[in-house]
Amino acid sequence: MPASPDEMREHSLQAPLIVIFIEEGGGDWHARRLRQAMEKRGARVVTAALCACAFDTSLASGIDIPGLNGALPDGVFVRAISKGSLEAITLRLGILHALSASAVRVWNEARVIERCVDKSTATFLFQKAGLPVPETRTAEGREMALDYARERLPLVSKPLFGSQGNGVRKADALEELPEEDDVGGVYYLQRYLRAPDQGVFSDWRVFVSGGRIVGSMARQGAHWITNIHQGAQPTATNLDEDGRALALAAARAVGADYAGVDLIRDPDGHLVLLEINSNPAWKGLQSICHIDIADFLAEDFLDAVAASMAEKVTVRR
Ligand SMILES: Nc1ncnc2c1ncn2[C@@H]1O[C@H](COP(=O)(O)OP(=O)(O)OP(=O)(O)O)[C@@H](O)[C@H]1O
Ligand SMILES: [Mg+2]
Repeated sequence: MPASPDEMREHSLQAPLIVIFIEEGGGDWHARRLRQAMEKRGARVVTAALCACAFDTSLASGIDIPGLNGALPDGVFVRAISKGSLEAITLRLGILHALSASAVRVWNEARVIERCVDKSTATFLFQKAGLPVPETRTAEGREMALDYARERLPLVSKPLFGSQGNGVRKADALEELPEEDDVGGVYYLQRYLRAPDQGVFSDWRVFVSGGRIVGSMARQGAHWITNIHQGAQPTATNLDEDGRALALAAARAVGADYAGVDLIRDPDGHLVLLEINSNPAWKGLQSICHIDIADFLAEDFLDAVAASMAEKVTVRR
């Protein structure tokens, strides 16, 4: 039975209680701008680090978020998970799963983060959705890597949980493949997609939120790894319709609410999907685009939270 007008009015008057999960040790530029944008829209915002949260059976909710005294928020914006052991990451993702299971609107949900942080799963989901991806093989053991690489050099190897271009390497010879310890025994091997004589290298970062393109930039540099963190320069670019459609399809393929999608042109000129980031930074993009990205994100996120709050009211009746 739908909620009565009074109930709807009562719930819409409630300022949503929002948690932004930030890096351990304090919020960054992104978290500050998000907070301002959400508070401007009337939300009550608490920031906390996931590593400071706990499961606790003495609480009715079972979940302890610092500053909430055992209460549950209406929405959670995941800005950072923070580095940690396999046990620590498992606990933090477990808390995000539990928040979703408690009807809290989580942006991005744990299952989306799991799909994106693991490059092999993201590449698989792109392929399954019929999206163009570079030739890629992911498996365990150096023997397998050597077998696969023999006929396919040059190859790019990437850490499964990489970011900012760290640990991304090109192997022009078999001995240049990383040692097992360098990659946790797992090899993510991909066809090298740059033309041999290429001088300037570029790829695209497309920022998606709520099923729309927020903005996009080309990243150009003298080195083939064109992450901003590796020294590439962001330049404003109007991605063509194909590129925009591909980025939106990539976000849908992993179920992301917001994401940073990386596209690259292969030597035949075709746009292919490199990867997708579920906690993308946007400082580089903000420096070259006019709209306020935090504002855009806050609007989409709070709309999703309002929708889930309305749904809870309806369900309760
Ligand atoms: N197969 C490839 N061929 C050529 N260049 C590549 C290839 N894969 C990646 N690169 C270059 O290396 C960069 C980093 O690769 P990728 O985006 O996959 O890893 P990352 O470290 O996770 O980056 P992010 O910080 O975006 O998460 C890309 O932006 C691109 O410039
Ligand atoms: Mg990338």
